Amino acid sequence: MNICAVVMAAGEGRLMKSKHAKVSHMIAGKPMISWVRDALCQAGADEQVYIVGHRQEQVRAILGEDVAFVLQEQQLGTGHAVLQASHFLEGRSGCTIIINGDMPLVTAETLQRLLDRFQQGNFAAVVLTAETSVPHGYGRIIRDSAGNLEAIVEEKDASEAQQEVTEINSGLYCFDTALLLSALGRIGFRKKQQEYYLTDTIEILIRDGYKVAACKADFMQIMGVKDRIQLQKAADLLNRRIVERHMLAGVTIVDPASTWISGDVVIGMDTVILPDCSIEGNTVIGEEAIIGPDTHLHNVRVGDRVQLDHVTARDAEIEEGTVAGPYVQIRPGSLIGPYCKLGNFVEIKNSTIGAYSQLVHQTYVGDADVGENVNFGCGCSTANYDGMNKSRTSIGSHAFIGSNSCLVSPVSVEDNAYVGAGSTITETVPSYSLALARARQTNKDNWVISRGRIRNQRVNP
Ligand code: UD1
Repeated sequence: MNICAVVMAAGEGRLMKSKHAKVSHMIAGKPMISWVRDALCQAGADEQVYIVGHRQEQVRAILGEDVAFVLQEQQLGTGHAVLQASHFLEGRSGCTIIINGDMPLVTAETLQRLLDRFQQGNFAAVVLTAETSVPHGYGRIIRDSAGNLEAIVEEKDASEAQQEVTEINSGLYCFDTALLLSALGRIGFRKKQQEYYLTDTIEILIRDGYKVAACKADFMQIMGVKDRIQLQKAADLLNRRIVERHMLAGVTIVDPASTWISGDVVIGMDTVILPDCSIEGNTVIGEEAIIGPDTHLHNVRVGDRVQLDHVTARDAEIEEGTVAGPYVQIRPGSLIGPYCKLGNFVEIKNSTIGAYSQLVHQTYVGDADVGENVNFGCGCSTANYDGMNKSRTSIGSHAFIGSNSCLVSPVSVEDNAYVGAGSTITETVPSYSLALARARQTNKDNWVISRGRIRNQRVNP
């Protein structure tokens, strides 16, 4: 069966109080509308058209070229929105899923259930509904005495008795495409509300004698996002699903409530995630790693058995067995080789660090190529920026950089060279040499006595 989808995303999303399109807000690492698109794709709805209006350029930029767009210049209601997609649907057979763009929690399984019900019952339309104790803001499902769907009544039009109904319209439907087009052409403009209601198509189809059904889903699947409170609730629910998927796949997550994992993250078996971590983007973590506490990764490849404690890393790679932290920052363009050790207050930027190298205390390495088994003492830095330009530093394998040294780039320390502590290096240090670049120490004999500066008595300040 040919499955099309119409996604309504033209509304203003006033309650978000934002300069950004409502459906562009991020949720579990993806814009809200991308969750809807991905679920539709997984359910087989390959031909998708998005109704855009408010801040349409943002929505178009997120979804790209793979889907179609229709502009709804004036937002005259959901019926009017779908009407804009008529020319896209004309001549197509099969069914059309209609969904609000602000439903990021809906899964492909739920869409599949809707499609199955539509096909098996030979219906003209199936409306997805849900029971909720907080129906405020939703259209109410009105059934006849036999339990059949009779109408959908908007809250603002509902009688007191109808407002008591706890079964709500999700805003997600599956229609026979030809019958949808026929009903759409006949919905009237509601003068009082200044809107065309999509829900009026349901009554029109019932009047025409077609079978229409209401199919119940879990409210957690169809919950819409209207404001920032609902945005947070939806993010929480999505995160819970993601975290549980990883736990079922063999990842230990010590504190799910403080662990935020985006939808596309991959984590290997027997890895342990400690509290207060966020793992985002296309991050891939190997097996038996220990991540956290308080570690934040965005687009990072992390090898097997890596340990990261209080680490922030972005657009970087950390190879197997490396141990980093606490308080390490690994910035974009960095590749940390296997079995390295990065200790407290170490920052690496746009650099490669060879296997088994150790930067254990308070060191900055930026725009550098560091070989294998290099040892940095405490407080070293690469001076990679002269105030105008950045340049690179090269450090060969097995080099030793003494504490508190500064390597002024562009500069090279060759394989097996030593840099004495406290040196400021501005010229190449050849292989197997020791570079000392600091003022020579002078001792003044008995200076303390001759100046009367003996400090062996404690004086109260
Ligand atoms: C609609 C349904 C209501 C249902 C609710 C679920 C109608 C008449 N009512 O309510 O029964 O319970 O959805 O959320 O259909 N949109 C457009 N263009 C417009 C108007 C809306 O694209 O002109 C989009 C919005 O961006 C949003 C979606 O349609 O994604 C729903 O709009 P919203 O105003 O939130 O819902 P209602 O029409 O109040």
